[in-house]
Amino acid sequence: MDNKITVHTDIEKGKINKNIYGHFAEHLGRCIYEGIWVGEEASIPHIQGIRQDVLKALQKLNIPVLRWPGGCFADEYHWQDGVGPKEARKRMINTHWGGVVENNHFGTHEFMLLCELLEAEPYICGNVGSGTIQEMSEWVEYMTLDGESPMANWRKENGRDRAWKLPYFGVGNESWGCGGNMKAEYYADLYRRYQTYVRKYGENKIYKIAGGANSVDYHWTEVLMREAVSYMDGLSLHHYTSPGDFFKVKGSATNFSVEEWYFGLHKTFFMDELITQHSAIMDKYDPEKRVGMIIDEWGNWYDVELGTNPGFLYQQNSIRDALTAALHFHIFHKHCTRVQMANIAQMVNVLQAMILTDGEKMIVTPTYHVFDMYQVHQDATYLSVESVVEKIEEFELELEAVSVTASKSEDGRIHVSVCHLHHQNETKVDLEFKGLHQDLEALTATILSGESLDAHNTFDQPNAVTVKEFDQYIVHENYVELSIPPRSIVTLCIN
Ligand code: AHR
Repeated sequence: MDNKITVHTDIEKGKINKNIYGHFAEHLGRCIYEGIWVGEEASIPHIQGIRQDVLKALQKLNIPVLRWPGGCFADEYHWQDGVGPKEARKRMINTHWGGVVENNHFGTHEFMLLCELLEAEPYICGNVGSGTIQEMSEWVEYMTLDGESPMANWRKENGRDRAWKLPYFGVGNESWGCGGNMKAEYYADLYRRYQTYVRKYGENKIYKIAGGANSVDYHWTEVLMREAVSYMDGLSLHHYTSPGDFFKVKGSATNFSVEEWYFGLHKTFFMDELITQHSAIMDKYDPEKRVGMIIDEWGNWYDVELGTNPGFLYQQNSIRDALTAALHFHIFHKHCTRVQMANIAQMVNVLQAMILTDGEKMIVTPTYHVFDMYQVHQDATYLSVESVVEKIEEFELELEAVSVTASKSEDGRIHVSVCHLHHQNETKVDLEFKGLHQDLEALTATILSGESLDAHNTFDQPNAVTVKEFDQYIVHENYVELSIPPRSIVTLCIN
């Protein structure tokens, strides 16, 4: 059976917030240090300490928002240690991640510079677990108050005259775990208290994000919504995917069987179920959908690469990761009226990264290419799609072989992205358009495909998996017939 897809270009189902294409960079392993920050003295080309090659690659993605400094690190981070002359900055131990020395050379000013260079909006996560309300409140004052105040004056002494724009602030991270092992009821009260002092200075209105649930902890969402809904703009959710058992053997990023291929893909669809369940709870307390669901940590989490520091969470990244990233976007699009931001974990050298570095060398990953191909959906209107597709039945799992998402950008262009999950067979897809004004002959397409199940880029073969022009299609009057290879992602653009 072939796959039949109908895109209704005149049935609009909401706006895809560009922030679901957000990122996350933590002081973890080689994400910040080496991956992003090499320091002003480095021989690697840099802009005020931020490495140029990584920056250039990331700039291409149009990253809308960047979360920092953690993660678990956020609840041990004391921002005052990371401002002022570098030589005087306190050295601390990064107890969560490898027990290494953190010299605090990458702090608030450096992060804001990174955001400016990326043209991304900053999303800062404050310390509730081991920090005081005063500390959190003064950080906001330091960053956003223009004019005269102790913190604003200190910022100026440290070289930044104007206040920064800070649109997003998270009040703690994983407060149910590394952020303080709290109960939902206790955190809800703390959240109400801490957020009170996240002030609006001048025009800088802050979108306040409450620390949300771990995966299926629906009780957490219930309590937070019940007790604190009117004090928040967003509520976070964290969920990671491993093909194996997260607490035992998670599985390898590259060395895996066909069975693990399907386990990894199949588990990705659980995100749909999770969002549906958490949304139902949020709907009870917020039927207007004022509060955004902020999935500020998601992605694949494997066993670390052999020989690397287990606390650094360094893993390779294959075409399977590209597919799961794309499937996540299809799910986020589907829930675009509630999901207002998502931040993949993490940007460089950690978990499902965009970029891997080795000293001065750098490569982009298959996941990077998905962010590149899918940026056309940022801030676009989500369109209705009907599909009748082949089922894959393998290893007692059942999943649809083809997944499709479609959107219309502000200038009227239609973009359709198609994932084909089969591990070895090519497939045909008939893509029909209803209500289309454009000429289908004006279609262009790109493809990301893997030669093998674990096709990935290495420092020796940096372009083993890369985006190519796609021309395996025939245009008919109101539909396109696509021949899609296995393990592939195609994005079509109708101008
Ligand atoms: O992204 C790695 C870690 O996963 C984060 O620090 C933490 O928030 C989560 O448990």
